[in-house]
Amino acid sequence: MKESLKRSVPWNTRQFLYGSKTKHLHKSFSNLKVTIICGLITIVVLRGTIGKGSFGSSAPDSSDQDQQETTVHKRKDPSRILAAQPKEIEEDPEPERDPNTPYRLGPKISDWNEQRASWLSNNPHMPATVNGKPRILLVTGSQPKPCGNAVGDHYLLKAMKNKIDYCRLHGIEIFFNMALLDPEMTSFWAKQPLVRKLMLAHPEVEWIWWMDSDAMFTDMVFELPMEKYKDKNFILHGWDQAVYNEKNWVGLNAGVFLLRNCQWSLDILEAWATMGPKGTIRQEAGKLLSKVLPGRPLFEGDDQSALVYLLSSKRAEWGDKVFLESSYYLHGYWVILVEKYEEMMEKYHPGLGDDRWPFVTHFVGCKLCGGYGDYPVERCLKQIERAFNFADNQILQMYGFQHRSLGSTGVKRTRNDTAHPLEVDDDLKLLHPSFKASSSAVLQPQNSG
Ligand SMILES: *[C@@H]1O[C@H](CO)[C@@H](O)[C@H](O)[C@H]1NC(C)=O
Repeated sequence: MKESLKRSVPWNTRQFLYGSKTKHLHKSFSNLKVTIICGLITIVVLRGTIGKGSFGSSAPDSSDQDQQETTVHKRKDPSRILAAQPKEIEEDPEPERDPNTPYRLGPKISDWNEQRASWLSNNPHMPATVNGKPRILLVTGSQPKPCGNAVGDHYLLKAMKNKIDYCRLHGIEIFFNMALLDPEMTSFWAKQPLVRKLMLAHPEVEWIWWMDSDAMFTDMVFELPMEKYKDKNFILHGWDQAVYNEKNWVGLNAGVFLLRNCQWSLDILEAWATMGPKGTIRQEAGKLLSKVLPGRPLFEGDDQSALVYLLSSKRAEWGDKVFLESSYYLHGYWVILVEKYEEMMEKYHPGLGDDRWPFVTHFVGCKLCGGYGDYPVERCLKQIERAFNFADNQILQMYGFQHRSLGSTGVKRTRNDTAHPLEVDDDLKLLHPSFKASSSAVLQPQNSG
């Protein structure tokens, strides 16, 4: 508690000193003491209003981030109040967009393939394909402020550790975002500007892999069948029939997807984002989506419904390059998976990715960071802990440990240490996997395809 107080003061001071209004610097110094005291008081006063946001899920959520920001929640743990952020200094607001101009993610680009190809040929040390494998950047993120409860931040950390583990094992780069890049694109719409930005900044990356922060890898061995997607640009978990024929708003899941770095992807991001800007556009979009997508409850426009609508209404334009995957769990709905983990461990082994050993378990509808979820928080917490441990066992086995049970944070040894540590091998061969060797950081210039 004291620690966080100590840290919050210099941060407050630093922001104050290095803020944009330097001409007030001198006066600021004399007022500094007062400012700090006021800042601390403000933290205490604001305690009921700090803490907001979902767990980073793209799952439908009727509340906007900004609404959540002003929602007063009851807090049980006072240490959370003081650990919360220092008072924010008002920055100059971004200029508002003229409401008469249509929203865009960014300047129109129509020759991205050419620009990117030229960059790649000028930078042969950064090929988009390394040893036959496309370079992939996994992108995830969470809200810039602390969760509404300590346990939410704890599970964000666990979900992040889980993703780091998978990416390290498979030679995938990772980006964790905590900044809202476009003030109009809040909540489930924050990823579209981010994905575009990363694509344009990283021409060496062939695929951007978005993953919600509340999704975890539960199969550490399974590898994406990238060969299967060589003529596709957009990979999501879902079913053609459900999206194109039934216009089912849960016919695909937008919380986990791969998007190829190319012009086509910039175009679909732009088309997809049109329903995103908060306010009237998103509210009206919500009404339209609930009217045209059977079974969709009435709430503001969300990215998943918008994508189902875009694909089903313009299949001829986009459908060709979209692959709706259902042969393994690129996204796996936690409710149908988590009770079966013990049975899976008894009968099967990692590397299958499907019903027998799900690649991803996604906690759709759980709001662990605050807000109102579709499921009781206790149930979500219990199961997310189990999913984490189920996955973590595959990491720990490399080092001769496993969790005492799926519900336990504690671990036990599965083998004794020996004087010849290099002679023991892990059962899953994850310590020195063949796929790691083939996607190592040793880059050899080659045809970037
Ligand atoms: C480790 O060694 C002890 C003593 O030799 C033995 O009782 C125990 O079963 C061993 N544990 C494992 C996991 O092999």
